[in-house]
Amino acid sequence: MAIRAPFLSTRYGGYYHREVPKEDAELTRVGPGTPCGEYMRRYWQPGTFSDDLKDLPVAVKILGEELVAFRDFSGRVGLVESHCPHQGTSLEFGLVSERGIRCCYNGWLFDVDGAILEMPGEPEDSTYKDRLCHGAYPTH
Ligand code: FES
Repeated sequence: MAIRAPFLSTRYGGYYHREVPKEDAELTRVGPGTPCGEYMRRYWQPGTFSDDLKDLPVAVKILGEELVAFRDFSGRVGLVESHCPHQGTSLEFGLVSERGIRCCYNGWLFDVDGAILEMPGEPEDSTYKDRLCHGAYPTH
């Protein structure tokens, strides 16, 4: 790794000071499975202000993950993966419900903990929704 001198010995010397140290991926990568990302996931991360959670979902990006925060009409806060597990529609455009958030495309309803509450279009006796979950994180 190149070492960049913190100071120059000449004025207007920016041209001579262009070399930027290479990225240290161990410290700068925060996605799942990376050393820093796994470390940071041991702690609470600020995502959004509680006051911003009104009747519309809010897209947030935390540690490289695209998520959607919302407060359902019963007052519970949810933080779920952005893309619906059915066909990938962004839940940023979802409909906040009395309980959870509903996908705007085919209407699957997700609870704040990722449980799938409804799957319109599935047969009434289907147990599909009981066997699957959507990615969600606890909030505080
Ligand atoms: S894409 Fe979300 S329910 Fe189908």
